[in-house]
Amino acid sequence: MFVCIGSSCSDQKSRGILTEVKKQIERIERPDRVHVYTATCLSHCLRAPVMQVYPEGTFYCNILPRDVRTIVTEHLEKGHVVEHFAYDPFAAVRWNDEIDS
Ligand code: FES
Repeated sequence: MFVCIGSSCSDQKSRGILTEVKKQIERIERPDRVHVYTATCLSHCLRAPVMQVYPEGTFYCNILPRDVRTIVTEHLEKGHVVEHFAYDPFAAVRWNDEIDS
């Protein structure tokens, strides 16, 4: 996974996200299966702070440190995208946003 620490994300306290990611990964069953990298920009600066989880490439945007535990548990441990926090750049809306019809 990538945690962006570029200027826009840093302005939105992404270092705190990175710290929380590392802390939460240490408590999962197989922390050795997760590799955490920093990125200087993930191209969604307006939605900072941003992180991206592979292999799916799921973006999590506008997250807070308190959201990280849920993302680590649900996505990294159980393999489920956390739709509440996920952002689909192709749909240009967060997955849980309501779309006017
Ligand atoms: S600086 Fe983080 S997405 Fe651009």
